[in-house]
Amino acid sequence: MLKSSIIPVLQAVPLPVLLVNAEEKIVASNQGAQALFGAALEGRAFVTVLRQPQLGRALEAALTDGRADQVRLRITPPGREMLTLVSVAPLPPDEGGILPRGGAMLSFEDITAVEEAEAMRRDFVANVSHELRTPLTALMGFVETLRGAAKDDPVARDRFLAIMEREAGRMNRLVGDLLSLSRVESEERLRPTTQVDLSAVLKGAMQTLTPVAETQKVALIRAGETGVLKVSGDADQLTQVFSNLIENGIKYGGAGGSVTVTVTHIAHEPVLRGPAFRVAVSDKGEGIEPMHLPRLTERFYRVDTHRSREQGGTGLGLAIVKHIVARHRGRLKIESEKGKGSCFSVILPAL
Ligand SMILES: Nc1ncnc2c1ncn2[C@@H]1O[C@H](COP(=O)(O)OP(=O)(O)O)[C@@H](O)[C@H]1O
Ligand SMILES: [Mg+2]
Repeated sequence: MLKSSIIPVLQAVPLPVLLVNAEEKIVASNQGAQALFGAALEGRAFVTVLRQPQLGRALEAALTDGRADQVRLRITPPGREMLTLVSVAPLPPDEGGILPRGGAMLSFEDITAVEEAEAMRRDFVANVSHELRTPLTALMGFVETLRGAAKDDPVARDRFLAIMEREAGRMNRLVGDLLSLSRVESEERLRPTTQVDLSAVLKGAMQTLTPVAETQKVALIRAGETGVLKVSGDADQLTQVFSNLIENGIKYGGAGGSVTVTVTHIAHEPVLRGPAFRVAVSDKGEGIEPMHLPRLTERFYRVDTHRSREQGGTGLGLAIVKHIVARHRGRLKIESEKGKGSCFSVILPAL
């Protein structure tokens, strides 16, 4: 291959690529590689550009034994840090070209995002296992107690069975929320197409939660726009969104005595670029410290884990809310002031 024809071929490769000759000098590069390692690469000794020993060994193996290899390498081009998978491939001699005695081609694949996703998945599995193990350990402990010490004590037996029921319920809710989350995530790109009346959805969610509100002595108040409020959406999922928010208002903000659901019509919502409804679920409870706000929608993130567990929470409610709202092309806004209460608003495009 002639020297002149190799450069356009390298430019056409979507990955950063370097060609190194048998003397370990860089003889050609494409723009992707220049963006990572600087413009003036040709003629430089490879080791002055990349000095990581594992990569040096892989290059040597390619040049001396004709062996291909892959190396994971952290590199730091100006202003960022990335993890790359470097493929080192030996090349045959190229008579009359730029590699008369052979050489090697190195290509760099950016695997930073893959690695991050992998780390998130590992975290998620660890969290789920931990969340399931806690109630499971309790259940196993009580089974043992019921077989042994509490075998002939009907009072203790009843008490332990009640605890076991609660722990099994917790596991059941967790599994239910995990299934919801995975279903919502897999549908996130599928826009809902049915017409839904937001008023009816809110009425349903509020009715279902009335008994919970009553036992906690919290008034549920509906305010703002009423009548038929049309949005395009999935009625079950929207019900899940508002049930989650209202339930949180009761559980964590109930000390303020009321939870108010207010609907406002917005003639032109700047981000959604059109008419919208804003549904605000607000409480006058203790509020949330600002440092927690950006993380509330993360899976399993809670301000007070003990309190959430006590209330039967799974830590997944707001993560589910976020995904459903995203699927509806809506926005979720969380405002809160310590000591004054919280307001969770969902903004949905109006029909
Ligand atoms: N209205 C609220 N007032 C105060 N804290 C809240 C409110 N809503 C949610 N939170 C906090 O956000 C956390 C996450 O909520 P969520 O995802 O619904 O999980 P869960 O309710 O199962 O704990 C809660 O544990 C709580 O600490
Ligand atoms: Mg919740």
